[in-house]
Amino acid sequence: MLYLQIPLLAVLLAGGDNEDAFQEPISLQANYISYLYNHSWARSWGSVWLGEMQIQGWESNSGSITFLQPWAKSNFSNKEMKIVEKLVHVAHVQLLYNLRNHASEWKLEYPFEIQITGGCELHPEGHMVGFSQLAYEGSEVLSFQNSSWVPSLKGGTRGQQIGKVLNQRIVANKMTHRMISNTCPRFLLGLLDAGKADLQRQVKPEAWLSTRPNPGPDHLLLVCHVSGFYPKPISVMWMRGEQAQQGSQLSDILRNADGTWYLQVFLDVEATKTSGLSCRVTHSSLEGQDIILYLDHPNSKGWIILAVMLPLLLLLTGLAFWLKKRWTHCEPPSTLLPLERFQRSRDSTHT
Ligand SMILES: *[C@@H]1O[C@H](CO)[C@@H](O)[C@H](O)[C@H]1NC(C)=O
Ligand SMILES: *[C@@H]1O[C@H](CO)[C@@H](O)[C@H](O)[C@H]1NC(C)=O
Ligand SMILES: *[C@@H]1O[C@H](CO)[C@@H](O)[C@H](O)[C@H]1NC(C)=O
Repeated sequence: MLYLQIPLLAVLLAGGDNEDAFQEPISLQANYISYLYNHSWARSWGSVWLGEMQIQGWESNSGSITFLQPWAKSNFSNKEMKIVEKLVHVAHVQLLYNLRNHASEWKLEYPFEIQITGGCELHPEGHMVGFSQLAYEGSEVLSFQNSSWVPSLKGGTRGQQIGKVLNQRIVANKMTHRMISNTCPRFLLGLLDAGKADLQRQVKPEAWLSTRPNPGPDHLLLVCHVSGFYPKPISVMWMRGEQAQQGSQLSDILRNADGTWYLQVFLDVEATKTSGLSCRVTHSSLEGQDIILYLDHPNSKGWIILAVMLPLLLLLTGLAFWLKKRWTHCEPPSTLLPLERFQRSRDSTHT
């Protein structure tokens, strides 16, 4: 949990009036995982992510790429996507072949997991950076720099041994270099354009408050729920008047099924000190009209009293008149509303 750092970060990221401008790098990243159970049995999965959104999936049994967004092919033709699919398949088969052949030499102990990640990152100033890493059992062994694999600091002799074998495949390394420094940037720029309507959409948050008894005597945990917003940068703060409450704590930002985001912000307060507290939500979709929810609205107590008292008063008045009439005329009770009854009785007294 990032807790307190988030509000600051969110405020910094939310800035910027130009809709096309972005403040942090955007990455296109392909993840590959191979799980080798024994010498003959392995399963592998792949996924492609644009930032925090998965756009493609891949699985070794079918060997085909599935597209999770209508624009997940970027501006590439079906023919080009088939070529990418074939390259993935060949790289996957060669990797398994190498791992099985060198398993004992590289001290890879079954069952084990190999992860490869690769892609490119577009920086706000416009330059692209390609990257690729290989990990064994979750720890990095090699990283791809320029056109060859370089052992990572923690890679040890295993990193040097695997790197040596992989670097003998000069054509494969040239292709990897080309993938991350040419194909990936083209694909990423095409994606940002093809998915523009989705990626630049603005969805307003809904917000509501709740309270929970908090462990510890006479304390309450106030919860401000904010859900359904897009894009992710947001600022949510508990306030007393214009004063941001430093004790506000943020949950992780969770993803809703529709790709929008959900967040809770907590404030631990003494049960007697809740008056004047509000939750303030600032988000690009609100165009400067922050959502402000009051825990107890300054006027709300008065309205509650009026709302409860008014029907009661009418009922009592009605009852009083009915009793009075019944007393004097012995009428059967009618189904009229108290107010009508009140007017009727006034009329009858005038005539
Ligand atoms: C490898 O593991 C699979 C799955 O558990 C099993 O079916 C197979 O018999 C194993 N093969 C060997 C050679 O141990
Ligand atoms: C990559 O190559 C360039 C020149 O071709 C060199 O200046 C740079 O130091 C290299 N980077 C690494 C990490 O080896
Ligand atoms: C896709 O769009 C990118 C960025 O606009 C462009 O560089 C590329 O040539 C386009 N077409 C293909 C097939 O990559």
